[in-house]
Amino acid sequence: MVVRKNIGHAKSLIILIMMLGFSIATYNLLSMIIVNNKNGGLVAVESFDGRKVMESAKSNSKYHVALTSNDDVYSQWQCRIMYYWYKKVKDMPGSDMGKFTRILHSGNADQLMNEIPTFVVDPLPDGMDRGYVVLNRPWAFVQWLEKADIEEEYIMMAEPDHLFVNPLPNLASRTQPAGFPFFYIEPAENEKIIRKFYPKENGPVTDIDPIGNSPVIIQKSLMEEIAPTWVNISLRMKYDKETDKAFGWVQEMYAYAVASALHGVKHILRKDFMLQPPWDKHVKKKFIIHYTYACDYNLKGESTFGKFGEWRFDKRFYLLAPPPKNLSLPPPGVPETVVRLVKMVNEATANLPEWDHLNRSGGHSKGYNTTNHMLK
Ligand SMILES: *[C@@H]1O[C@H](CO)[C@@H](O)[C@H](O)[C@H]1NC(C)=O
Ligand SMILES: *[C@@H]1O[C@H](CO)[C@@H](O)[C@H](O)[C@H]1NC(C)=O
Ligand SMILES: *[C@@H]1O[C@H](CO)[C@@H](O)[C@H](O)[C@H]1NC(C)=O
Ligand SMILES: *[C@@H]1O[C@H](CO)[C@@H](O)[C@H](O)[C@H]1NC(C)=O
Repeated sequence: MVVRKNIGHAKSLIILIMMLGFSIATYNLLSMIIVNNKNGGLVAVESFDGRKVMESAKSNSKYHVALTSNDDVYSQWQCRIMYYWYKKVKDMPGSDMGKFTRILHSGNADQLMNEIPTFVVDPLPDGMDRGYVVLNRPWAFVQWLEKADIEEEYIMMAEPDHLFVNPLPNLASRTQPAGFPFFYIEPAENEKIIRKFYPKENGPVTDIDPIGNSPVIIQKSLMEEIAPTWVNISLRMKYDKETDKAFGWVQEMYAYAVASALHGVKHILRKDFMLQPPWDKHVKKKFIIHYTYACDYNLKGESTFGKFGEWRFDKRFYLLAPPPKNLSLPPPGVPETVVRLVKMVNEATANLPEWDHLNRSGGHSKGYNTTNHMLK
């Protein structure tokens, strides 16, 4: 048992080392073959080993929802709520959702294996993430793409704090993936740093999309090309002092944006992909609620952003145990997105079995680091 596990682990390590070595050579070759046409879309393309990358018609437009996660309680309760809402919207008209996988990058099964379809992958070797657990995401994708059977042609990269608020169609086109533009990802404002990873000969820095890896819906074949480069760039960014300091907690987002640009891939930017309460006020026809920001209000329903409100919802308040059932609803006057968020959390916690017992059986990740969760 132990021996087999070590062999598996050693194999992953060898793949990782080979990949890091080869990825630069690979993307240089690729960027020569992949050409952008004048309209900014990708034309039919063949990759270096002769595989068709982009040509196939959108015959199966379903996308596989891939959620990367750790096994600590804080990630687990978010994953349970996330998966609850996936199941609710999956078969609604307008949804192109296929199957769902939680890619668990803590290296061991946890107590949610029977509740959520899960694929266990190895974390990066000890110490390689330098305390920034989020670096495990790209490496998790590489292993999953390599080892899992994925029937859909498209993949959606999702995170535990995403809630599907409306049925989500496949926003990718036949030739281009789709991503969400983040206001704080500004490649052009960070040209000096970006150039360390995206040299002049690759093109202008404006080639780099203002996105992270999530949410993104992307052709599986493209993701297979980009993921190893993404591992390499994210580690190089972490190990470069200046970049680590400048990009801080968003460096793995920049790393994906740069890696995809190195492969000549441009994303369709969809502002309606995601809502970020409390900034976005109305749900409208948008698709995902991302609850990363704290929502603080006084009892008159006025925002006290940055200061604890008399009413508040902040996921980071529940680092060591799940939020209680039946959270109080915000006072009148609070934006629709915040109200909807709390109602969705309450509905899930009311229906998920043994909600309050989650912390009793699991959450023993040795890499658990509360500091990291203050940020992500
Ligand atoms: C990324 O790839 C380059 C080129 O092969 C290699 O020199 C570098 O060491 C890799 N980076 C990391 C962090 O492994
Ligand atoms: C936790 O993460 C922070 C930020 O990445 C790091 O500075 C700190 O050393 C880590 N603590 C432990 C115990 O690993
Ligand atoms: C939820 O809490 C409210 C008060 O905030 C209470 O009126 C209601 O009965 C509770 N519902 C359940 C199902 O416990
Ligand atoms: C689980 O969390 C509850 C609070 O939600 C706490 O009272 C209890 O002591 C925790 N149990 C363990 C084993 O950590």
